[in-house]
Amino acid sequence: MTDMETAATILLGGGLVAFPTETVYGLGADATDDRAVARIYAAKGRPQFNPLISHVTDVEDAFALAEFPAAALTLAARFWPGPLTLVLPRKAGCPVSLLASAGLPSIALRVPQHPLALELLRAVGRPVVAPSANPSGRISPTTSQHVREGLGDKVDFILDGGPSAVGVESTVVSLLDDMPRLLRAGGLAREKIEDALGQKLQAPVAGPLHAPGQLESHYAPRAVMRLNAKEWREGEARLGFGALDAPLNLSRTGDVVEAAANLFAMLHQLDNANSSTIAVAAIPEMGLGEAINDRLKRAAAPRA
Ligand code: TXA
Ligand code: MG
Repeated sequence: MTDMETAATILLGGGLVAFPTETVYGLGADATDDRAVARIYAAKGRPQFNPLISHVTDVEDAFALAEFPAAALTLAARFWPGPLTLVLPRKAGCPVSLLASAGLPSIALRVPQHPLALELLRAVGRPVVAPSANPSGRISPTTSQHVREGLGDKVDFILDGGPSAVGVESTVVSLLDDMPRLLRAGGLAREKIEDALGQKLQAPVAGPLHAPGQLESHYAPRAVMRLNAKEWREGEARLGFGALDAPLNLSRTGDVVEAAANLFAMLHQLDNANSSTIAVAAIPEMGLGEAINDRLKRAAAPRA
């Protein structure tokens, strides 16, 4: 097998592949596979489930995942492939893992410019989520050697494409309300985007739309949450973990990576079951357990 075939096979099997983009190396996983997406957070040691960018081969593929307002069409036509990420409303039926959107109704999309990245995306035939391929809080990698030093055997395969040309992450622009907003400065200059749009980019506004995870009660379901359950009580919807079992169990084997993969989808399912309370089994505060408990606490927080 060629390196490209190996990389695509591993991604389709739910593994993690670091691959070159023109900005920085990405740590890729099949965006439609909850468990693979959860493994990214585990490999990076991210304390929180920050939302991830889905990488696609072209704007046609992007149309299947998100709603494109006029400004998004303009920017995509002008700057894709390239170092620009667009945050857009998720389309109904979007197959990308809810975990990749960190439970938000939006999705971040990018068409990278690196020929190997594009070849890999074509070979996989699915969107690929990829944060920068560094441990959380460390500098983004611009060579395969950086990736090896930072992530070592936490990544199943590294596709080497030489040093990244841009070297800083993509510029992130949100098109979720009537104002285009700059969420992260990056490899595409603000002025070029403003020229293409014929308007200034605004600063992000505080709130759940643009500051994912910041608002206490942001992940709140309609039901009241009872956390750290040690036993089940009559009349509550149940979310199990490990030995405290229920029809919906985050992980019967007590695996926090599997639990993270199931978290958002199962909470949605239980919230739709119309019980007034959702009881959640205790999750150990280790590995991804910390991020899971953070999200559960937010879900349980008093409503704004
Ligand atoms: O250049 C890049 O963008 C690299 C390469 C690999 O493509 N990727 C990258 O990913 O830098 P990451 O995960 O390190 O940064 C993703 C950024 C974060 O600032 C995140 O908050 C934002 O995109 N983001 C992703 N989805 C979002 C959403 N739904 N709403 C708001 N911000 C979002
Ligand atoms: Mg990063």
